[in-house]
Amino acid sequence: MAVDLLLGLQWGDEGKGKIVDVLTANYDIIARFQGGPNAGHTLEFDGIKHVLHTIPSGIFHKNAVNIVGNGVVIDPVIFKKELDALKKFNLDIKSKLFISRKAHLILPTHRLLDAASEASKGKAKIGSTLKGIGPTYMDKTGRNGMRIGDLELSDWKEKYRSLANKHEAMISFYNVDIQYDLAELEADFFKAVTELKELTFIDSEEYLYQAQKQGKKILAEGAQGSLLDIDFGTYPFVTSSNTTAAGACTGLGVAPNQIGEVKGIFKAYTTRVGSGPFPTELFDEDGETMGRAGNEFGATTGRPRRCGWLDLVALKYAVRINGVTELMMMKGDVLSGFEKLKICTAYSYKGEIIEHFPYNIEPENVTPVYTEMNGWKEDLTKMTSADQLPKTLNDYIDFLEKELEVPIKIVSVGPDRTQTIHR
Ligand code: GDP
Ligand code: IMO
Ligand code: MG
Repeated sequence: MAVDLLLGLQWGDEGKGKIVDVLTANYDIIARFQGGPNAGHTLEFDGIKHVLHTIPSGIFHKNAVNIVGNGVVIDPVIFKKELDALKKFNLDIKSKLFISRKAHLILPTHRLLDAASEASKGKAKIGSTLKGIGPTYMDKTGRNGMRIGDLELSDWKEKYRSLANKHEAMISFYNVDIQYDLAELEADFFKAVTELKELTFIDSEEYLYQAQKQGKKILAEGAQGSLLDIDFGTYPFVTSSNTTAAGACTGLGVAPNQIGEVKGIFKAYTTRVGSGPFPTELFDEDGETMGRAGNEFGATTGRPRRCGWLDLVALKYAVRINGVTELMMMKGDVLSGFEKLKICTAYSYKGEIIEHFPYNIEPENVTPVYTEMNGWKEDLTKMTSADQLPKTLNDYIDFLEKELEVPIKIVSVGPDRTQTIHR
């Protein structure tokens, strides 16, 4: 059985959590492959909203095993909070949540280093979620990191101490005013590690290989979005992992020829949280309306998300890089009431019209070229089947399918599990 992927095609927060939860009904295993608690994946059912950061979004289904893959970075303190929040739902977590021994650990000093690095950048800051993601991946590629499997060794605290000491020296190098009480942070960390160690650590690449051989259906869950990819995103305003399809191979140990469907998810408009260029960003009432109607606040940091029209140049780029085979369009309901909708189909780039995503999309180089379409007024949130969708929305979808050359299989019309239309 091939492994299917689900990944975000914009700057994150496309609705991955909701869709993974919906799709889990058809899968035996959900496996997160990169990122860490910088992610905030929201899912809603039975009137309750859940936000997950590290735990895969299949956790609420009895039928599925959930795996945190080797490509993920784990903060035991945040992980423990997630586990605590799940306790009241009696999910039998121990039998259905496994963690890769090769996943790296976020130490309290990684978080402090993130804060120091951002403070030192001033106005040029990345707008990081400050969860220690960058410094943890730096230690991973620098071959200094600590892994989940280290926690099974008797000398892990010595390893911890030596790395934390090095981090403290690095923090002082930044020469910025960061207040912290390391003893308190470490007490929380050690307590959380004790709880984490009650879960099962596995060689997840072996587990997934065997599961595949047994014909189990596996869905790999991405975090962030393609435009935040360390290689293909809007560098340096990106995250520190490969959020694109290739990241699922390295983040789970699944070979490229074992990948099946690549499900790409996008909002009917665009949002971005944190710094960095965003060609179709709106600074007017339309942008405010999207933010308000879409409740566009970060699920991890609560920061308002910047909003703008759909950017087809960027979306085509993401579809190509990921080899997307099916699309999912989210939040169509949020655009209800706009008389006219704009879609960016090209960039005016240094005075020339281009249709590809260039090296530099800073505002001084790029002005979006828009196509205008009629909007829809209907409230979509109670619609349950494709034949109820308004004509103007179908026109919008048809236009996108033609441009992207990939079918849009799901149209989401609200945050709840049930507000999902299959086409
Ligand atoms: P993720 O990071 O990709 O999982 O997305 P987030 O959870 O950070 O952000 C998506 C937000 O949109 C969440 O608050 C979801 O509950 C909400 N959402 C998802 N799909 C829809 C939709 O179709 N319509 C509306 N109105 N909200 C949605
Ligand atoms: P999900 O999985 C949206 C953004 C941050 C910042 C940049 C770097 O919920 O879609 P980092 O903490 O990685 O150092 O931040 O990336 N960012 C996200 N934006 N959704 C996310 O995850 C994000 N994870 C990181 O805002 O601009
Ligand atoms: Mg999110």
